Amino acid sequence: MNTNAQQAIGLFDSGIGGLTVANALINQLPNESLIYFGDTAHLPYGDKSADTIRYFTKTIGNFLLSKECKIIVIACNTASSVAYEMLQNLAGDKAHVFSVIEAVVDEIIRKKYKKVGVIGTLGTINSNAYKTKINAKDATVEVHQLATPLLAPMIESGFVDGQISHLVIEEYLNAPELQDIETLILACTHYPLIKKEIEEYYAKKNKKVDVLATNEIVAIHIKKFMIENGLVNYEKKGKNSFYVSDYTESFEKTTQLFYKESIDLIQMPLFK
Ligand code: DGL
Repeated sequence: MNTNAQQAIGLFDSGIGGLTVANALINQLPNESLIYFGDTAHLPYGDKSADTIRYFTKTIGNFLLSKECKIIVIACNTASSVAYEMLQNLAGDKAHVFSVIEAVVDEIIRKKYKKVGVIGTLGTINSNAYKTKINAKDATVEVHQLATPLLAPMIESGFVDGQISHLVIEEYLNAPELQDIETLILACTHYPLIKKEIEEYYAKKNKKVDVLATNEIVAIHIKKFMIENGLVNYEKKGKNSFYVSDYTESFEKTTQLFYKESIDLIQMPLFK
């Protein structure tokens, strides 16, 4: 690979959900420079076709490659489900590409879970990416999936800890598909914002279900890879940049839900 420690880490999502991955990366790797791209012009990705998601991914991938990123993280489960191999081919030896799925699949196998629930967008669930990848490593694991399309827009609208979110979460988690599970994969990068509420739901029901948020697992996995491959930047605190394909002030405000500090979004009309 033609990469070195001083280069930035690029990451992208349909919008701002992937900022939960950016937070987790910053916690693990405080000296890195991040280049974030939120494809707000095409939000949500969850109900788009696989071909369309691959087209968006290719365009954003080329942008991040032009910024000479050493690593590109697909900080979106929907795009990870259908565009990971394509982006790896596009990046070639210019950048290491990570999806948010592989590290979580490894965690399921490592912890020997046998009854796994997955919630995510329609695109993620319809792709069967988690089920296929888990069962390729262990065919005896039962994978129970449920599309939860209301959750990402609900979270993005700021409903993360109140009556509305309680009702929607309860309705989904009461579904028959999710009754007999040991762990629940939150297969959308928006969902770490409601992890606490989901854990409270199970605590209230006296059910022991481990809730897995993909952002932290992926950040730990990437850090390990970077240490093993001499890609950690130990030199100085890097500068982070945040691009969006469509800018509104309300979006910039909403980023505060997902990202600890206030950030300046730069409009980058990649698709015009
Ligand atoms: N954050 C995206 C994901 O992880 C979903 C949001 C969307 O539908 O755009 O799948």
